[in-house]
Amino acid sequence: MREVLTYRLPDATQVTLRPATPDDAAAIIAAVRSRSEERSYVLMDIYGKDAAAERAYLERLERGRNLFLVATVDGAVVGILALLDMPLCRGAEATLAAGVHLVREWRGRGIGSAMLRYAVRWAAAHGFRQIAADIFTTNERSLHLFRKAGFREEPCRRRSVQVGAREISEVILVRRVPGGAARA
Ligand SMILES: CC(C)(COP(=O)(O)OP(=O)(O)OC[C@H]1O[C@@H](n2cnc3c(N)ncnc32)[C@H](O)[C@@H]1OP(=O)(O)O)[C@@H](O)C(=O)NCCC(=O)NCCS
Repeated sequence: MREVLTYRLPDATQVTLRPATPDDAAAIIAAVRSRSEERSYVLMDIYGKDAAAERAYLERLERGRNLFLVATVDGAVVGILALLDMPLCRGAEATLAAGVHLVREWRGRGIGSAMLRYAVRWAAAHGFRQIAADIFTTNERSLHLFRKAGFREEPCRRRSVQVGAREISEVILVRRVPGGAARA
């Protein structure tokens, strides 16, 4: 598959989707840092600590088994999607965990959907069988995005997360990858 994809939004803005490089680390951290309840656990809690840690992480990322995708507009990072070889459901074979985050001003313009389509193609091309995402039940936009892309709720895990004073439930949505071959 082509690694770098460029397309235009209806207003002619050019968007580029490409795998991140270590030089994107600071821009990625700036983009994902948010106190919002709508956030990706994969991106914020695991890798979203600081630019130095993000750079080190991207430098040692095993690129055949993990995708760290950025969406850029005029060279600026406006979205991030991580597809990590980190099964969210115990026992599930060859499952990637997905997290996606758009800079606020760039939400609602189809970029998240485009990144998710790229991610499904990447997973198929790299022999993975399914993709899973854990999403707050309050995050209606994200639930809609993933369901529209063919993800369905998996009974493997449901948990609650403390966010400030509130406890919010999470669901796991899973999508099978067409043609995803078995891999070791
Ligand atoms: C969730 C997120 C990644 C979606 O990306 P996006 O580029 O805004 O999504 P898109 O524009 O491609 O699609 C959004 C869809 O949600 C719909 N939508 C918007 N607000 C909605 C809401 N409150 N409830 C339900 N659906 C909603 C839109 O109509 C659109 O659907 P459509 O394509 O059928 O018209 C983005 O909003 C984001 O970064 N949110 C904060 C971080 C986050 O929540 N990450 C997900 C955790 S894994």
